[in-house]
Amino acid sequence: MKLLLLASLFLAAQAAIITHPHATVLHEKRDLLPSGWAHARRHDPSATIPLKFALTQSNMHRLEEFLNEVSHPKSPLYGNHWTAGKIAETFAPSEETMSTVHNWLVGSGIPSERIKISSTKGWINVDASVAEANELLRTEYNVYVHESGKSHIGCNEYHLPAHVAPHVELVLPSVHFDARVEKRGPSTTPISNLGQPGFGITPKTTGGVPTEVLKFHNAKQDAAAAADYCWLILTPDCLRTLYGLNYTAQAADKNSFGVVEYTPQAFIQSDIDMFHFNYSREIMGKTPNVISIDGGVLQKQVQNFAYNGESDLDLEYAMNLVGVEQNITLYQVGDLVQGASFNNFLDAIDGSYCTFEGGDDIYQDPHYPNTQTGGWKGAAECGTVKPTNVISTSYGYNEADLNPTYTARQCAEYAKLGLMGITMLFSSGDSGVGGNNGVCMSEFGFPDAYGSVFNPGFPASCPFVTVVGATQINKNAPVTAPEAAIDQVIFSGGGFSNHFAMPDYQKDHVNNYLTNFPPSHPDDIWNSTGVARAFPDIAANGANFVAAVNGQFILVYGTSASTPVIGALITLINDARLAAGKKTVGFINPTIYSPDFSDAFNDIVSGNNSGCGSSGFNATSGWDPVTGLGTPRFGKLLEKWLSLP
Ligand SMILES: *[C@@H]1O[C@H](CO)[C@@H](O)[C@H](O)[C@H]1NC(C)=O
Ligand SMILES: *[C@@H]1O[C@H](CO)[C@@H](O)[C@H](O)[C@H]1NC(C)=O
Ligand SMILES: *[C@@H]1O[C@H](CO)[C@@H](O)[C@H](O)[C@H]1NC(C)=O
Ligand SMILES: *[C@@H]1O[C@H](CO)[C@@H](O)[C@H](O)[C@H]1NC(C)=O
Ligand SMILES: *[C@@H]1O[C@H](CO)[C@@H](O)[C@H](O)[C@H]1NC(C)=O
Ligand SMILES: *[C@@H]1O[C@H](CO)[C@@H](O)[C@H](O)[C@H]1NC(C)=O
Repeated sequence: MKLLLLASLFLAAQAAIITHPHATVLHEKRDLLPSGWAHARRHDPSATIPLKFALTQSNMHRLEEFLNEVSHPKSPLYGNHWTAGKIAETFAPSEETMSTVHNWLVGSGIPSERIKISSTKGWINVDASVAEANELLRTEYNVYVHESGKSHIGCNEYHLPAHVAPHVELVLPSVHFDARVEKRGPSTTPISNLGQPGFGITPKTTGGVPTEVLKFHNAKQDAAAAADYCWLILTPDCLRTLYGLNYTAQAADKNSFGVVEYTPQAFIQSDIDMFHFNYSREIMGKTPNVISIDGGVLQKQVQNFAYNGESDLDLEYAMNLVGVEQNITLYQVGDLVQGASFNNFLDAIDGSYCTFEGGDDIYQDPHYPNTQTGGWKGAAECGTVKPTNVISTSYGYNEADLNPTYTARQCAEYAKLGLMGITMLFSSGDSGVGGNNGVCMSEFGFPDAYGSVFNPGFPASCPFVTVVGATQINKNAPVTAPEAAIDQVIFSGGGFSNHFAMPDYQKDHVNNYLTNFPPSHPDDIWNSTGVARAFPDIAANGANFVAAVNGQFILVYGTSASTPVIGALITLINDARLAAGKKTVGFINPTIYSPDFSDAFNDIVSGNNSGCGSSGFNATSGWDPVTGLGTPRFGKLLEKWLSLP
């Protein structure tokens, strides 16, 4: 009896010494569960958790400075992009960081043979029992269940010793939850749904054709007449006229342009051929160079707009606008079972980001090899795919569904790609100030379909990507008239981040907006602090795009459409620079916001981006959180970028 008591006292004392030798600090905390998730139970103490410690990278506080050095037009180092090697070396965690975390784990009773350092030295991995993990991190691991039936292991908060905390960016699994990549539209309305029954711009059309459209058809060989109807049916020629695009690629062999699509989205070759037959016959039969990442497949099981619309649209316009000379790369990401996340794509194009065996959140980011039936049986792609000079992505998350540490890490990776001379383009969203599918937030930050709090997107809110909003030609207006912010079918995503601070490059422009057009909204429904990253950066038409999808011509709407248009323009500017022996434009934001580029955009001054039960923000003179700096003037942009070193 006595002995037993002594023994248990001794154990308790030892446990106290081993696990709490230092003052601990709260490292990460989540106040609310993401929508659809509920707490199920405490996790079984004897279960094993693969704990991953993301080590703090060196020199991260200088990332924006380094990026500016190679991207700011006034910098003497403009265009001196970094190699992947220099990036890995500059940001690798220090020896001190690695040994501090290692020593703490060993001192806490984890045998050193269980402590594995990832090949990239970015992560320390430990398979720990739940009991050990609860002690180590002063937390309680739980099992959460999603209404879909999916379960997740994590905790609401965790602690680290004060001397260890600065060396650890985050621990996984913990407060981070699954939130799959959401496609940004495109939204579509078949013409027959636009109050024009019986008409479709499909070859099979019979009867009921409205006068304007009939005139358009009869005059379709007449470019001038077709231009009169760009407000009704937007074609590639309309875009060329709108933005002054009249450039033919000269250095296509040195250049590259990539479009990212996430499985199960898939393009259909006969659709893009159908489109090219009408709008770019010389490209008929040409296919994008398909690069499959983590089992990416062009699935044929389900074919309808929801599964083919995005891919068909993106490729039809990207291929048409850059012309027959320039090949297009399609990054088809994710298997049919899990789909994929942005981190899977980033791992594939950058070995230094790739966290190798399980550095990602295995609950957040699909994990490969995938043993499920139909899953990708290969290893996760890790630095195996070459990034193209411009990468256009029409998918996005709600920022609020992700943890700030997770978004910070991914956003930093976009900065590193910028350092390497890559232009990362993302759509701003199709629900105005609302999030994906128009969902806003409650006053407590819960996702709430009827909430009034604005819900910014991610990566749109990351200051190191270029974000594209959408415009339209107003009803009955000629192609030469000023465009407005889109109000057909969708509203242009835009607003202010709740995670990221305002980068230097946009301060003057955004302050001008906040000072001269102070938004009339109450402060508690948007980040009104005046120090938050504001988006979008730029805009392009996103209304009434004619696209061939599932064997039919239909009209499509969305910032999804706008993004590959900007991608094509930047690709052609890269072409001219490469032909002149210069470097690619890389991260364009410091350049496009600079005073020298002020006349390179058509300022959009009308319309708004309604959402969350409000009229959102207004498009105004100068930069605004609806259409950014405005739409491109290709000739000016080309001339200015050619004058830079
Ligand atoms: C393109 O358009 C600009 C401005 O309209 C004009 O100055 C230039 O000569 C044109 N270039 C070509 C190749 O047609
Ligand atoms: C474009 O792709 C085709 C087919 O893969 C290839 O034959 C051609 O050389 C490529 N063109 C350039 C300019 O890279
Ligand atoms: C595409 O071309 C076909 C054949 O010339 C024509 O019948 C059809 O109207 C065109 N479609 C569009 C949307 O221009
Ligand atoms: C607004 O943005 C700033 C800068 O990133 C941030 O410090 C602040 O917490 C944000 N406010 C809200 C309400 O999220
Ligand atoms: C947008 O402009 C309208 C009309 O001038 C005004 O009533 C509204 O308050 C403005 N919206 C914001 C967010 O400032
Ligand atoms: C916002 O835009 C919508 C659609 O264009 C328009 O009906 C509304 O009047 C605008 N609201 C404000 C406040 O300007």
